[in-house]
Amino acid sequence: MKIAMIGTGYVGLVSGVCFSDFGHHVVCVDQDQTKIDKLQAGQVPIFEPGLDVLMAKNVEAGRLSFTRDLASALEGADAIFIAVGTPTRRGDGHADLTYVFAAAEEIAKTAKDYAVIVTKSTVPVGTNRKVHEVVKAANPDLDFDVASNPEFLREGAAIEDFMKPDRVVVGVETERAAKVMEDIYRPLYLRDFPILTTDLESAEMIKYAANAFLATKITFINEIAALCEKTGADIKKVSKGVGLDGRIGNKFLHAGPGYGGSCFPKDTKALARIGQDVASPMAITETVIRVNEEVKHRLVEKLRDVCGNSFKDKTVAVLGVTFKPNTDDMRDAPSLTLVPAMVGGGAKVRLVDPQGYREGQDLLPGCDWLDDPYEAAKGADLVVILTEWNEFRALDLSRLAGVMSAPKMADFRNVYDPSDAKAAGFEAYVSVGRS
Ligand code: UGA
Repeated sequence: MKIAMIGTGYVGLVSGVCFSDFGHHVVCVDQDQTKIDKLQAGQVPIFEPGLDVLMAKNVEAGRLSFTRDLASALEGADAIFIAVGTPTRRGDGHADLTYVFAAAEEIAKTAKDYAVIVTKSTVPVGTNRKVHEVVKAANPDLDFDVASNPEFLREGAAIEDFMKPDRVVVGVETERAAKVMEDIYRPLYLRDFPILTTDLESAEMIKYAANAFLATKITFINEIAALCEKTGADIKKVSKGVGLDGRIGNKFLHAGPGYGGSCFPKDTKALARIGQDVASPMAITETVIRVNEEVKHRLVEKLRDVCGNSFKDKTVAVLGVTFKPNTDDMRDAPSLTLVPAMVGGGAKVRLVDPQGYREGQDLLPGCDWLDDPYEAAKGADLVVILTEWNEFRALDLSRLAGVMSAPKMADFRNVYDPSDAKAAGFEAYVSVGRS
């Protein structure tokens, strides 16, 4: 199969690289010349474990290339994937589809032969039908189908998720398009990973429903965690006991500082807007969005409390600023609320993160960046764990407490055991959902 991938952002690049690893010929297109220059030089513009090696392997094999030239990428393509950004539109919370429709129009003007135009970006229900209209209007003679093929990969585990998915969802209107999509995903199909074929609207809805459900699960457990603190229950035991029920499942039940990232915040907001537009309010999703914001503010107050009711002149070491481990992504990271609150309150904040520095230095001004947790904790009053990088999971707690001036820890990913922290010399240890 020959595939054109439009957009070399997170989803586009990972999908393009993985499709080429299936044995397909993939050309990735992007308007951003600097990005294409980097990719052509073998540099991966994002941090994703294993992506550089897989990319180099497939470029070497002659199956994967990068260009700015759409026409050459579309030549002979069986499928043209649209994987451009759909950020939250300023003002109204809708997904901004400008880039999707611009790509559709470009494709219409450039493509010559039959191809399936596949949307991989997360788009509101009805968008693929609009893509169909946009292409038809721009080039009435073009022979094409549209398909919806939402992506479910997680940052930091993207290649694994792509190669071993829980399911692949494909929304189509014609048998011909279904056949092309089946051929593209044949390597997965042969290994018994389920491929669910639906209509366009259901495929679009599955993506939003899945992300909103996961965001709800996390928010629910965060709310139970707050209740645990007031009642003396332990959220880790509660999550375990609840998750052992097969109908609930143990994943996405880890209490923490609220969900962040490029997907859950954006997709929950977009789903809530869709509900408002069609007068079918998404009351649960709207509450999840609000409660997730409140979690962060609750934790700011918890930090203030452990600092003796004021951040003034306190030295705080924050371990982890990215929205989760194994990524350099800072979008909607809890650190963007917690760190400015401490800096604004007069604290001197030192930051440590294996990947967060590049984006974080602009987003979190007025802080010092260090490489080593013990160095950051030297003379500090408080250590805060915000992202559960492996580097922060096995700290020598006695050594850490030993270098601090008044050893206190706020462990907002519940990495450590409260009794271990106390035994190591921490005079105060607070976490989430454990008193
Ligand atoms: C999420 C979904 O998991 C993917 O299936 C989906 O494809 C992707 O969005 C997307 O729409 O593109 P991602 O945002 O990369 O993936 O990260 P997750 O691992 O889902 O974590 C999201 C947030 O939830 C993080 O802030 C994480 O710290 C938080 N989280 C996750 C918890 O607080 N507790 C948990 O138990 C799990």
